[in-house]
Amino acid sequence: MTKKILVTGGAGYIGSHTVRELQRQGYDVVVFDNLVHGHAQAVENAPLIVGDLLNPEEIGAAFEQHPDIAGVIHFAAYVEVGESMSDPGKYFRNNIQGSVNLLDAMTAAGVKSLVFSSTCAVYGTPENVPVTEEESYKPESVYGASKLMAEQVMSWYDKTRGVKFTPLRYFNASGASFDARIGDAYKPASRLIPRLMEWLLGQRDDFKVFGDDYPTPDGTAIRDYIHVDDLATAHIAALNYLWNGGESMAFNLGTGQGSSVLEIINMVREVTGREFEVEIGPRRPGDAVRIWADNTRARQVLGWEPKYGLREIIETDWQWHSAHPRGFEDR
Ligand SMILES: NC(=O)c1ccc[n+]([C@@H]2O[C@H](COP(=O)([O-])OP(=O)(O)OC[C@H]3O[C@@H](n4cnc5c(N)ncnc54)[C@H](O)[C@@H]3O)[C@@H](O)[C@H]2O)c1
Repeated sequence: MTKKILVTGGAGYIGSHTVRELQRQGYDVVVFDNLVHGHAQAVENAPLIVGDLLNPEEIGAAFEQHPDIAGVIHFAAYVEVGESMSDPGKYFRNNIQGSVNLLDAMTAAGVKSLVFSSTCAVYGTPENVPVTEEESYKPESVYGASKLMAEQVMSWYDKTRGVKFTPLRYFNASGASFDARIGDAYKPASRLIPRLMEWLLGQRDDFKVFGDDYPTPDGTAIRDYIHVDDLATAHIAALNYLWNGGESMAFNLGTGQGSSVLEIINMVREVTGREFEVEIGPRRPGDAVRIWADNTRARQVLGWEPKYGLREIIETDWQWHSAHPRGFEDR
């Protein structure tokens, strides 16, 4: 029988790509999103319930309408580090209370499998790279702390209610769908690649590299950029792991390769064929020097493997931004 999956935040960036991959693999999907940052146009061929996780009745009703849900993938959250520091209550409420309401609704409906969008921000500035799941937790932002606390809440629902869960700790999600129909439309863009694309397309006046005096080979910060379609396949592997009786366990999702800001810029020059110079600004407070994933656990336990590298990330992102300079507003 076809399994049905509830995807919270499925109208957002990573959620919408995962919805498509679920459909491609033959699952039934129901999306639950309040559309605060998501886009109805990003959800094709799946029912979209416009509802808010902060309203327990709305998420409860979603399970009543769909009593055959076999598992949940939970993306819905606020995601901006900077905003989380200026408005902590907004992040703690949405990212923790929203998750509590979801867990209560799942428990009431007897749904016991949960894949959760967590983040490498739970590690803060790691002592060791590559970062394993055993690295100590030292979030440096309210955002990272809210995700770690949500993981801890889930572990208590595991102990008390038997909800099995896999926090997937993503590194830098990037790229877009290969047919350029969906991509990162988050406004205002705060991530490196979308900011650079917007600047090249004349949609923002300036683009700065935050610091070139880091202790790295070229002086710029190093991150692990993972294609959003690779994240999507990992979610489905994690659901299958849980359905097969797997214990609750966290997984790092990155490629295992670090790329510096200048390496990204050079790849953008190569892919777009444009010659441009960038302005160097000061370091941004709170940015780690270097972080990339040890993804051994996800490879071994989930049988997952990232397929794409930096070139595909930049190519798909460039195609998406060029075809939809105003995001979903033109659809
Ligand atoms: N983008 C990254 O690099 C990255 C890295 C690590 C982790 N994550 C996590 O991945 C998840 C998805 O991130 P994204 O980049 O796709 O962000 P996004 O903002 O595009 O997606 C989040 C979606 O959740 C919805 N939402 C938010 N609060 C809600 C609520 N209370 N009720 C219902 N819907 C709600 C939004 O409308 C949006 O569609 C988040 O949980 C984020 O913390 C993202």
